[in-house]
Amino acid sequence: MKIALFGASGATGRLLTRRCFDAGHQITALLRHPETFPLRMLVRAVPGSAFDPVAVAQTVAEADVVLSALGANSLRKEDVLERAVPLIVTAMRQQQVRRIIVLGSAGAKPDALDKQPAWRRWVVEHLVYKTLLKWPVASQRSQYATLSASGLDWTMVMPPMLTHGRGRGQWRVDPDALPPNASRIAREDVADFMMRQIESTEWTGRAVYISW
Ligand SMILES: NC(=O)c1ccc[n+]([C@@H]2O[C@H](COP(=O)([O-])OP(=O)(O)OC[C@H]3O[C@@H](n4cnc5c(N)ncnc54)[C@H](OP(=O)(O)O)[C@@H]3O)[C@@H](O)[C@H]2O)c1
Repeated sequence: MKIALFGASGATGRLLTRRCFDAGHQITALLRHPETFPLRMLVRAVPGSAFDPVAVAQTVAEADVVLSALGANSLRKEDVLERAVPLIVTAMRQQQVRRIIVLGSAGAKPDALDKQPAWRRWVVEHLVYKTLLKWPVASQRSQYATLSASGLDWTMVMPPMLTHGRGRGQWRVDPDALPPNASRIAREDVADFMMRQIESTEWTGRAVYISW
């Protein structure tokens, strides 16, 4: 398939790039710095920013599926998803590309903690979502709002904390809330799950939690 990939140079994006290439897909990646992207030989690079509607449209052109692992480079207010996701949705509508699979985050929806014990709900809600991760969570809520109103065939994959370690090849998936005592999952496993959604309609039009 022809894949349009946003955030290819990020920690999860690099894993997605490698997996898409190994699966035989053709990858077009929007990159701010294609010259320093270690996997540049595996992709057709569109140089530019996800805030540039022309570069976004060039990336999406002729794609069968859009994948995004976009995110801010800090915990400060950067509005990456607030600005980029509406541009991606607009480009997809204009070019009649329907399928998009994005990396989200567990804080994107208010039901995230419904299956956690009360103490953990309080800690995560007050010490993490409302303080440390205030801006990333706001961005993910914006991404969810944009996608769920898009009319596209979207899937938002919502992990808790991401780790750099080896994947386990197994995970818990729940459309209603983070599974009980969910706390982390490796980016490798999230990338594998996102890849599986390319050929699956199981979670189309849904945001789905994933965790070890
Ligand atoms: N860290 C966690 O524990 C955690 C947990 C749950 C969910 N998440 C979510 O996962 C997502 C990605 O996480 P990650 O750690 O894999 O990513 P990351 O390493 O932070 O990479 C972010 C990617 O977004 C790209 N990007 C940012 N602004 C851009 C712009 N204006 N134009 C083009 N590309 C842009 C970056 O490109 P450059 O290389 O050019 O900067 C990079 O490729 C985030 O949305 C985050 O909220 C994270």
